[in-house]
Amino acid sequence: MTEPGPTEWTAGASDPTHGVGPHPRPWPDDPRYDRELLADGDRRNVVDAYRYWTREAIVADIDARRHPFHVAIENFAHDANIGTVVRTANAFAAQAVHIVGRRRWNRRGAMVTDRYQHIEHHESVAALLTWAHQHGLAVVAVDNTPGSVPLETADLPRECVLLFGQEGPGVSPDAQARADLTVSIAQFGSTRSINAGVAAGIAMHAWIRRHADLSRAW
Ligand SMILES: C[S@@+](CC[C@H](N)C(=O)[O-])C[C@H]1O[C@@H](n2cnc3c(N)ncnc32)[C@H](O)[C@@H]1O
Repeated sequence: MTEPGPTEWTAGASDPTHGVGPHPRPWPDDPRYDRELLADGDRRNVVDAYRYWTREAIVADIDARRHPFHVAIENFAHDANIGTVVRTANAFAAQAVHIVGRRRWNRRGAMVTDRYQHIEHHESVAALLTWAHQHGLAVVAVDNTPGSVPLETADLPRECVLLFGQEGPGVSPDAQARADLTVSIAQFGSTRSINAGVAAGIAMHAWIRRHADLSRAW
């Protein structure tokens, strides 16, 4: 079944310079390929290695080599950064993204990457922390609050949840109090903080620099 919805084709279907057109014959004889994409072309926002693959095949392939870090973001006030966080988590093959608080979030910034990313929901920070510890994951709060240690020199745990706060309140006091570690990103200007989506990208990349096998990157 052809998967992409209209938003995955934003740069797309009517733009022959984006993606690839119909696959030349003979077609590959492999169940990972989607026959409709082979026939019509593949304009989705996926890396070349996944051209013409079904969504299910792409998710299964990433699942086989996901990294053991998770990302969580508090969503008690409809944070507009969650889409960006999901997209970056997809790019770095995070195990899962956890939305804490409201179930609804603004998918615009995700650019449809949420279709290839496991996303879970937790009612509260306490529920997230319980789940994380049951799964042997250290909870690393990311915020520039008192007691935080510099991300730049911290030894990030390999199996962990990176927990981000939202614009305004930041990481909730409960999360800070119960996290195993809080890390801050060094700043040098006048602003109190950076955008949560940007902070998430920096922290995820710090994990990548510390733990990922770079020979397996695209
Ligand atoms: C805009 S900030 C929250 C407000 C911030 N605590 C303040 O005092 O203004 C939103 C989220 O982005 C992340 N963040 C922003 N700047 C950061 C920094 N310098 N270090 C670590 N995390 C940061 C944190 O997860 C934070 O909860």
